[in-house]
Amino acid sequence: MPERPLRLATLGLPSQFLAAGERNEMTRPTYQVTELLGDGIGEELSRAIHRLAEALPVTLEFHPVDLRLESRRANQKTIYDQAVEAVTASRVALKYPTTTAEESPNAILRRRLDLSVIHRPVYTIPGVPTNFRRELDLDIVRIATGGTYDDPGRMIGDDGAVSLRIVERRPVTEAARYAFNLARKTGKRVTSSSKYTIQKATDGLFERVTTEVARSFPEVAHTTELFDALLGKVITAPERFQIVLVLNEYGDFLSDMACGLAGSLGIGASANLGFDPAAVVRVALFDAAHGTAPDIAGKNLANPTAIFLALSLLLYQIGEIRLGRTVKTATLDLLREGVRTRDLGGKESTESFTDAVAAEVARRLASATDTRQIKESIADPR
Ligand code: NAI
Repeated sequence: MPERPLRLATLGLPSQFLAAGERNEMTRPTYQVTELLGDGIGEELSRAIHRLAEALPVTLEFHPVDLRLESRRANQKTIYDQAVEAVTASRVALKYPTTTAEESPNAILRRRLDLSVIHRPVYTIPGVPTNFRRELDLDIVRIATGGTYDDPGRMIGDDGAVSLRIVERRPVTEAARYAFNLARKTGKRVTSSSKYTIQKATDGLFERVTTEVARSFPEVAHTTELFDALLGKVITAPERFQIVLVLNEYGDFLSDMACGLAGSLGIGASANLGFDPAAVVRVALFDAAHGTAPDIAGKNLANPTAIFLALSLLLYQIGEIRLGRTVKTATLDLLREGVRTRDLGGKESTESFTDAVAAEVARRLASATDTRQIKESIADPR
C-alpha cells in the first residue's frame, strides 16, 4: 500500500525529479487535507493556516468538516461518519480545538480512526520564558492505548482495588516502527523507556518488541532506560535524549513534564497516528495541544504557533520535509527574535504574526540554495 496521501497533478515529469525553481502549475504537487473545523479561536486559526498555506509552493486542497459545537449538536448521527470518511480518504487531517461538551470529539476521533500512537515534539525556544536553563529537544512517541488507562479498575471489598495493565504487540510495533523511521529520516537516536525490571511481563514485552523492530534499523542508535531514571536524566542531561519511545501512561507523564520544562504548554502540537496491518501510517491527524481559548476568541489575539507547528508535522508526514522544516524554523526564529503574540509578551495580532511567518517562509523558500526536492515520508516503511 502506498505510504503517501492522494496526490494530483502528476502530469509531466514527477515533481520529485524537478528542482524547486522548475516547478510550475502543471507540476505543482497537490495534497488533499481534511480540515476539522473547531470552536472559539478555531476560525481565526483556520484563516491563519490558509494564509500560510498560500506561501507554500504546493497546493493543499482543504476539505472542511464542521466539528463546531452547533454542527455537532445538529448532526449528531452523521458528523463523525463524515469526519472519519474524509480523514480516511485524504489520509492527513488538521484539527482545530473543539469545545468538550456532551462528548469529546478528540476521544471519538481517536477511537473511530484507531489512532494508536501520538508523536509529540517538545523543545525549548530561546526567548520563550521557562524556569529551565537547559536546551531540550525531544520527540516523544507514545503508545496511546492500553497501559493502565484502558481499565478503570475495581474495588475488592472496601479496602482493596485492582486494575489491569495491558500491553499488546500490535501498537508497540506500530509505535516502534514510526519512531525508528523518524530516527532514520532525521538522523536521531531512539531511547525506549519503561520499568521492565519490575513490570516484567508488560514492560518486558514492550522492550522485546522494540528490540525486534530495531533490528530492521541497524543504522539507528537504540538504547533503553528505566523510566524513573529517564525522568531525572531528561532534567540533568537533556541533550542525551532525542526520540523517546514509551507506553501510554509514561508518555502522558513525560509529555507534561517536558512541556513544563520547555515552557511551551501553549505552543505544543502533536501527530495522532493510525496504522494499517503492516504497521504503516494509514491516517494522521495533526492538532495543537491548547483548547478553544473562549476568552480571546474573535479578538485577533490567538497565537497560531501551535497550529503552524501542527502544519509543519503534516508537511513532514506527506513527504514535504523541506517545507515542514521551513515552517517550523521560520516560526521559531521569529519568536526568538521577539515577533510574538500577546500571550508570549509580544505585540503582534494573530493576523500580523501570520503575515510575518508567511513572508518569512516564502522568503526562505525563494532564497534556498538547496533547491533539491527532498521527497520522503518519515513514516516510509522502507
Ligand atoms: P485553553 O487552552 O482553551 O485556554 C487556557 C488559557 O490559554 C486561556 O487563557 C487561553 O486564552 C489561553 N490560550 C490557549 N490557546 C491559546 C492561543 N493559541 N493563543 C493565545 N492564548 C491561548 O483551555 P481551557 O480554557 O481549559 O479550555 C477551553 C475549551 O477548550 C474547553 O471546552 C476544553 O474542553 C477545550 N479543549 C479542547 C482541546 C482540543 O480540542 N484539542 C484541548 C484542550 C481543551
